[in-house]
Amino acid sequence: MLLDVRDLQVRFDTPDGVVEAVRGLDFELAGGESLGIVGESGSGKSQSVLALLGLLAANARVSGSARLAGGDGGIELIGARRRVLERVRGARIAMIFQDPMTALNPHLRIVTQIAEVLVRHRGLRGRAARARAIEMLEAVRIPDAARRARYFPHQFSGGMRQRVMIAMALACEPEILVADEPTTALDVTVQAEILDLLAEARARTGAALVLITHDLGVVAGQCERMLVMREGEVVERGGIEGIFAAPEHDYTRALLAAVPRLDPPGGGGS
Ligand SMILES: Nc1ncnc2c1ncn2[C@@H]1O[C@H](COP(=O)(O)OP(=O)(O)O)[C@@H](O)[C@H]1O
Ligand SMILES: [Mg+2]
Repeated sequence: MLLDVRDLQVRFDTPDGVVEAVRGLDFELAGGESLGIVGESGSGKSQSVLALLGLLAANARVSGSARLAGGDGGIELIGARRRVLERVRGARIAMIFQDPMTALNPHLRIVTQIAEVLVRHRGLRGRAARARAIEMLEAVRIPDAARRARYFPHQFSGGMRQRVMIAMALACEPEILVADEPTTALDVTVQAEILDLLAEARARTGAALVLITHDLGVVAGQCERMLVMREGEVVERGGIEGIFAAPEHDYTRALLAAVPRLDPPGGGGS
């Protein structure tokens, strides 16, 4: 198994007491597989994946295990040293966030930021790294990539910025791509383009995908399996088709009821 998460718990100490954000999450991810994590806002989706990468807020306490394949018996991510996590992050597990501005440095040109990743994780040097960075931007279909590579993040639209994030995430050829609501902030048409791009990138690189969303429609198009989270716990899990055909949990049924039908029975016309 590429990633094996067992009994993951995330608690936050707050002035009003302890918030139990993730309460015993288990899941496995095989190489190349795509897993959707769905659930409404506040159900613990983001904290679950941030915990894997050691990116939780300072008031968090984590327990459980998240084992990434490799080396002798794998690498335990929970409680791992900063240096270990930094090597995993970007190089083996890359994250795409809802708001790319949180991950991009506003003061650096895009080409510089992508080249930096290539230098750090793939050992490329200056000129080669920059050339590769431009290729990566071309791969996510940024028009006129050689020129736009010199842009600063704010010079891109939201959709273009998300393309830049995908290019950056793919730059070190990660085994796992974690996308946390990657299209939530975008217009519907742009959302579809970004999702296509993600699918294409996965097909090309063979990366596994953990896709977090509150939108079951998105998961249906991208994932093989899914987890449904509610209040920090998994309430349903399984293959996409099975869950869509026969959801077991009321909560899943309610989420499904909120998905606009893509293919209305009878061939349309409502
Ligand atoms: N730093 C923090 N301190 C206290 N509570 C937090 C903190 N970060 C997140 N939470 C809480 O953890 C819960 C799960 O959050 P999150 O995983 O971000 O939800 P989502 O499913 O929308 O991604 C929420 O109730 C949220 O308010
Ligand atoms: Mg979230």
